[in-house]
Amino acid sequence: MKKIILAAALAALSSPALAASTDAGKYQVVLGDCEGCHGKNLAGGVVLTTPFGKMVTPNITPDKDTGIGNYSAEDFRQAMKAGLAPGGKLLYPAMPYPSYARMSDGDVAALWGYLKTVKPVKNQVNVNQLRFPFNLRFAMRGWNMLFFAPAPYANNPAKSAAWNRGAYLVSGAGHCGACHTPKNAFGADKATALTGAALQGWFAPDLTSDAGAGLGSWSQADIVEYLQTGRNNRSMASGPMAEAVENSTSKMTDADLKAIAVYLKDLPASRGNGGGATGIEAQMKSGAVLYDISCAACHDRNGKGSLIFPPLAGNPTVRQVRADSIVRMVLAGGKGAATAKAPTGPGMPSFAWRLSDNQVADILTYVRNNWGNRAPAVSPETVGRIRSSLHGS
Ligand code: HEC
Ligand code: HEC
Ligand code: HEC
Repeated sequence: MKKIILAAALAALSSPALAASTDAGKYQVVLGDCEGCHGKNLAGGVVLTTPFGKMVTPNITPDKDTGIGNYSAEDFRQAMKAGLAPGGKLLYPAMPYPSYARMSDGDVAALWGYLKTVKPVKNQVNVNQLRFPFNLRFAMRGWNMLFFAPAPYANNPAKSAAWNRGAYLVSGAGHCGACHTPKNAFGADKATALTGAALQGWFAPDLTSDAGAGLGSWSQADIVEYLQTGRNNRSMASGPMAEAVENSTSKMTDADLKAIAVYLKDLPASRGNGGGATGIEAQMKSGAVLYDISCAACHDRNGKGSLIFPPLAGNPTVRQVRADSIVRMVLAGGKGAATAKAPTGPGMPSFAWRLSDNQVADILTYVRNNWGNRAPAVSPETVGRIRSSLHGS
């Protein structure tokens, strides 16, 4: 009798059903980009800079001493959907539980099934290195009361299945709003979802259909191509988005990327976070000359770019109200995402050693207000602020 049970159990272990459910859990890791924050082996130790100080991500491998090996399935569900770890420990929203709360219990259970099977790694992490008073974990109780209203994703019957899948991914596992939704002074989402937000020297652009700053002029295919390869003929992903593309969106299924595109294209246009600049004639003149010398070789005199260099004309990244991302790009340079479909990302050289704050401000003011672009002028002070933040990191 015993033997039979054992044989049945073994059969179950090697059955395609089990393999499929581990695969399903592994795919949830991709959708949620757990590796982006908890590291490739999920053993944590990745430093996250937040406006409130530093956090180092915990070890989420099944190691019993330093990881989450003592979690039950319910402990895991609570951490993902309520921001509550065992022992009543309130998690900080640097772990995107406000988004993961929208995941279905089935998807969370599949994710747990997979996490139990990854290699346990011993790695003790000191997670909370936030500044006073933010280091006081109990303060999260007030934060949760004010800003956290966990609600599982509710299907919208008036929309297509693809739209609903897209909305589920964007607002849930994909946690796109963690970067793209503007935040209030406490780091909580404002109501204007996905209309663009500054983060640590970058700007995550408006993803609504606004024609100026948003994705109004992008087709569904443009969005799919960008998320799959990190580039399209309108833009190129760099910084935090290049990482999100490499770890997460480039590994999503075609159907899921299409669903995200269907949903994003249906978002009503925000009123734009941009707006033109006035009184910038002197900056425009100086910027035009400097642009032709330093930038035109790759981005073209007409700002049209080429096959491997992104266009600056009509590029929403260039037109966001905050210029942080592009200032950083010019000072520090950048390397596009390397993905399975486009393995080597072309590079953008660093100009910090060559151009002064004034010169960078002039070039970017010109780029932001030429070839049909319109956006506020860039000041030398903004360039100086980002230059010193780069020294600090
Ligand atoms: C944007 C960064 C980020 C992403 C993405 C992220 N996490 Fe986290 N996670 C954190 C941080 C930071 C903490 C520590 C929070 C704290 O201690 O208050 C954390 C804590 C946790 C904990 C609690 C560990 C403990 O202390 O007991 C679990 C479990 C967890 N994450 C699982 C996941 C899973 C699974 C995914 C992918 C679906 C994921 N995380 C994605 C940043 C992230
Ligand atoms: C860790 C932060 C982060 C997350 C998470 C994130 N993004 Fe981004 N995203 C950015 C930043 C920063 C940029 C600007 C990149 C640049 O300047 O090259 C960007 C750019 C984009 C763009 C190009 C917009 C344009 O106008 O050029 C699209 C489209 C996009 N993201 C979609 C998404 C979607 C969909 C998700 C969720 C699946 C997502 N992002 C998640 C930070 C993030
Ligand atoms: C040697 C070629 C080269 C030169 C010269 C160059 N760039 Fe770039 N630039 C690139 C590449 C490649 C990228 C994409 C890299 C990435 O996304 O990480 C890029 C990206 C950018 C972006 C971000 C576009 C986006 O969609 O995210 C801006 C803005 C930019 N460059 C402005 C400039 C300016 C201004 C100059 C002159 C000061 C300049 N570039 C000079 C190659 C170049």
